[in-house]
Amino acid sequence: MTLDVFPVGFGLMGFTWNPKLKFTQDEFNAVLKQVIEATDKPLFLNGGEFYGMPDRHENLKKIGKFFETYPEYADKVYVSIKSGVNDHWAPVTSAEELRPGVEAITKYLAPLYAARKSHPKSLDMYTLARLGDDTIENVLERLNVYVKSGEIKSICLSEVSAQTIQKALATGAPIGAVELEFSLFSREAVENGVFEICAKNNIPVICYSPLGKGLLAGLNPKDVPEGDMRRNFDRFQGEIYEHNKKLVEVTKDIAERKKVTPAQVALSFITSLSNKEWAGVKYPQLVPIPGSTKAARQIENFKTIQLFDADLKEIHDVLDSFKVKGSRYTAAMDAGLYK
Ligand SMILES: NC(=O)c1ccc[n+]([C@@H]2O[C@H](COP(=O)([O-])OP(=O)(O)OC[C@H]3O[C@@H](n4cnc5c(N)ncnc54)[C@H](OP(=O)(O)O)[C@@H]3O)[C@@H](O)[C@H]2O)c1
Repeated sequence: MTLDVFPVGFGLMGFTWNPKLKFTQDEFNAVLKQVIEATDKPLFLNGGEFYGMPDRHENLKKIGKFFETYPEYADKVYVSIKSGVNDHWAPVTSAEELRPGVEAITKYLAPLYAARKSHPKSLDMYTLARLGDDTIENVLERLNVYVKSGEIKSICLSEVSAQTIQKALATGAPIGAVELEFSLFSREAVENGVFEICAKNNIPVICYSPLGKGLLAGLNPKDVPEGDMRRNFDRFQGEIYEHNKKLVEVTKDIAERKKVTPAQVALSFITSLSNKEWAGVKYPQLVPIPGSTKAARQIENFKTIQLFDADLKEIHDVLDSFKVKGSRYTAAMDAGLYK
């Protein structure tokens, strides 16, 4: 399938992820309204059923309330919600553990569904955050109950391996996309077979943390606010950050020449590879979902440019000569990736 959405989506995690940085509903509404208005196709929105501390449903509630106030925007968005982990972010797999997540989504997104005319009156895409120790076949059988009941239109799998995708496809479940971290910093999917199988089977890939969690847009780790978990991540630490800065310099150099911003270069790297064959790799449809809590920045993120082959070669020459240091999260959290 092809996702008929605006080429760049919008990640909503930042509004509710830091317990020390709170946004009011009015602040959230003001940003989302401006951002949706800046797109001329349905905007891919990415939220989380567990994106909230201490209230795990804070993100969902904010999204639902937005559509209560602005029902006229309900057909202008394509909504994907992540679920399937407990309060400690450990994957849940049993029917009993998966059910409360779907019920919360249905409950809090009711204003979105009620306002829709041309989109399904249900969740466009349920994203399984992480596959735990159960088999993908078992988990999909449990989620298919909600596809049949009409609560979920399609299923997305986050951070899964090529082998898992193959098995998922064999079940006949409506796999609408695969979600993974992809950016100049994190390109595992190019080599571990995930892009290959997605391209072959026409599965779009939702690229999260496309700005390297802010670093590729020029964020200095010193400026990460208190309470933000990025303070614990490897790539935000002194020597590792200094080493990886070379990639930040690449985005800065190209940005200066093209008269755009480093964030726009980092995102254009992804949109320019979408559905393209490059250096022997077939890329599937790629939809980056940068997250900003500021409308002006997100609108800037929508203005990607077409990078020419010479630009892509320049970037890949650097990538080929350089090994990114540090794990993506922490060593413990990285263990749950590409299952
Ligand atoms: N599947 C998964 O496991 C998973 C994991 C993590 C995230 N996600 C999803 O991916 C989305 C994005 O990922 P992310 O937030 O981790 O990382 P990201 O989009 O790579 O980076 C976000 C950071 O970049 C800053 N930023 C955004 N646009 C900018 C611009 N134009 N100029 C300068 N700075 C800019 C933001 O700050 P400001 O807010 O201050 O602008 C924020 O600090 C999330 O919202 C979430 O929906 C999924």
